[in-house]
Amino acid sequence: MGFFKESYEDGYQFNKSNFNTSTVAVLVIACNRPSISRCLNKLLKYRKSKEQFPIIVSQDCIHERTSQVIKSFGSEITHIHQPDQKEIKVPSKEKKFNGYFKIARHYKWALNQVFNTYNYGTAVIVEDDLDVAPDFFEYFKATLPILQKDRTLWCVSAWNDNGKFALIDRNDPKLLYRTDFFPGLGWMLTRELWIELHKKWPNSYWDDWMRHPDQRKGRSCIRPELSRSKTFGKIGVSNGLFYDKHLKFIYLNEVPVDFTKFNLTYLLKNEYDNNFVGHVYKAPQVNYNELKTKAIKHNDPVRITYYTKNNLKSLTKLFGLMDDFKSGVPRTAYKGIISFTYENRRVYLAPSNDWKGYDPTWQ
Ligand SMILES: *[C@@H]1O[C@H](CO)[C@@H](O)[C@H](O)[C@H]1NC(C)=O
Ligand SMILES: *[C@@H]1O[C@H](CO)[C@@H](O)[C@H](O)[C@H]1NC(C)=O
Ligand SMILES: *[C@@H]1O[C@H](CO)[C@@H](O)[C@H](O)[C@H]1NC(C)=O
Repeated sequence: MGFFKESYEDGYQFNKSNFNTSTVAVLVIACNRPSISRCLNKLLKYRKSKEQFPIIVSQDCIHERTSQVIKSFGSEITHIHQPDQKEIKVPSKEKKFNGYFKIARHYKWALNQVFNTYNYGTAVIVEDDLDVAPDFFEYFKATLPILQKDRTLWCVSAWNDNGKFALIDRNDPKLLYRTDFFPGLGWMLTRELWIELHKKWPNSYWDDWMRHPDQRKGRSCIRPELSRSKTFGKIGVSNGLFYDKHLKFIYLNEVPVDFTKFNLTYLLKNEYDNNFVGHVYKAPQVNYNELKTKAIKHNDPVRITYYTKNNLKSLTKLFGLMDDFKSGVPRTAYKGIISFTYENRRVYLAPSNDWKGYDPTWQ
């Protein structure tokens, strides 16, 4: 796979600019799906301020029907077109992944538009097949100061990869986490990060590229317990099987949380590493059978320790968690810890105390 190959050095210059640090552009990535109306309708329904959350729809592809749908939203949004429609030279063994090359090219152009031509300081990226939750905007508004303050964070995502009904605590919709796994699917980044990434943006597979240590550089994202985004699209570049088996079961939060009223400083690295990680390792250690046979006589959180990759793989399968790794990081993990619920109890899969960091050979 060619995704580590850096794209052309294009000498692109960044405008020096003054931007309003509390304005967040919502960049909607579009191409040829007229069903984007569903995504835009929800965004407009829940957006309270057009000034604070300007929506830019960036369209790749020449697709008249989709263009018409986007245009029908009039001045509520800004509609821009990716101008370079040349076929991309794709290595022959990657021909069937052509779409991923187009997506990477589109992202690069669109993000340059948002941060340079339009001079926004922050953006939330949404793909055209995403439904958002009623508190989507509140969530990003409240987490933005944390993202701006904490250099060990590089994104805020609306998505919980393990956000299925049985794996979450729906009584705690305000619960947020740090994660070392870049989730994507409705995510916020700052102009500063884009200035860092745009120079080496890859030709394809941009999300796995982001997850590589060369890009991530040990940084984390914020993610919710209950997803604030959910994909409704089956038809796309990535295959429909994954949608049927997994994505369609993700629970989209319905009860709005007024996040801006809560103190979210617990997500700052120092506080979080003391409190959350401390809490996990204080939880009593149990094994899967004890849980399954209901042998535990309390309702408090518990911890299951894993030691090896196969250990973890089989545990994730038993619990119905995502079982893949990217650059050695399991989905949703923070310092190797995966948090979820099992029969209404909080469970942490956690590496042993002497954990040395992620092992990129775990895949
Ligand atoms: C920045 O944006 C916010 C939200 O739209 C607005 O309330 C504020 O007045 C703006 N600040 C400046 C200096 O324009
Ligand atoms: C720089 O910003 C100005 C004004 O916002 C814009 O017109 C221009 O296109 C920008 N330059 C680039 C290279 O995007
Ligand atoms: C937020 O919580 C932290 C402790 O986690 C505390 O130190 C800080 O004073 C709180 N801030 C506000 C505005 O209450």
